[in-house]
Amino acid sequence: MKVGVLGATGRTGQLVIAEALKRGHSVTAIARNPDKLKQKHDNLSVVKASIFSAEELTEAFRDHDAVVSALGFSRSPPVTGYTESMKAAVAAMRASSVKRLVLLTAFYTDVTAAQGLGFFLNLFVKFLKHLLTNMREMEQYLESDAGDLDWTVVRPGGLNSRAARDQALVQREAAMAISGAGVASYIPRANVARFMVEQLEDDRYVRKAVAIAVNS
Ligand SMILES: NC(=O)c1ccc[n+]([C@@H]2O[C@H](COP(=O)([O-])OP(=O)(O)OC[C@H]3O[C@@H](n4cnc5c(N)ncnc54)[C@H](OP(=O)(O)O)[C@@H]3O)[C@@H](O)[C@H]2O)c1
Repeated sequence: MKVGVLGATGRTGQLVIAEALKRGHSVTAIARNPDKLKQKHDNLSVVKASIFSAEELTEAFRDHDAVVSALGFSRSPPVTGYTESMKAAVAAMRASSVKRLVLLTAFYTDVTAAQGLGFFLNLFVKFLKHLLTNMREMEQYLESDAGDLDWTVVRPGGLNSRAARDQALVQREAAMAISGAGVASYIPRANVARFMVEQLEDDRYVRKAVAIAVNS
């Protein structure tokens, strides 16, 4: 497949690129600052485009089969980057006839789902409230306005930069989080990236959200 990656210079985005290349895909890394990307590969090209410009993204997505987004924004309010970039990306996907989209959000995008689940979790969710709320607004935008696209929302818990765990991930469709005995609250970005790239060839979670975790 020919895959466009948003958030390509980020910690998860770079792992998405490496995983996609490893699986034989061709990758276009879309970045505001292409010089930041140090990876080199015959099947990797880097394009400078604004994630908020449907026009620039349409050009970047032309002749592609899929888009993967690992964009991330600051938690300071107002947080609008998720919805604003997704509206531009959806318009661009329509204009360039790309249907498959895999994107990253997080546990507890519906912040009310954390209520009653303990003091520390509630404190954490409160700290990230504006970020999580804009992620949820992006998910809701896809649910209500992007039924013509084959999107999959991937919701992990806390991310770390450790090596990928060699195990099948715990997966729960439509869940806001996965917790309980035997489930780790952190997941390596490498496992998240691998899962996201696997979704490109799997239609199980098309137009769905899925929470993922590793066993502890
Ligand atoms: N940290 C956690 O524990 C955790 C848990 C669950 C979910 N998540 C979510 O997972 C996602 C990825 O996380 P990460 O740690 O891989 O993120 P990251 O390393 O901070 O990367 C963020 C990416 O978004 C890009 N970006 C941000 N603002 C942009 C803008 N205005 N224009 C163009 N590109 C922009 C960055 O580009 P530049 O390189 O140019 O800045 C970078 O490529 C985030 O949405 C994060 O909230 C995080």
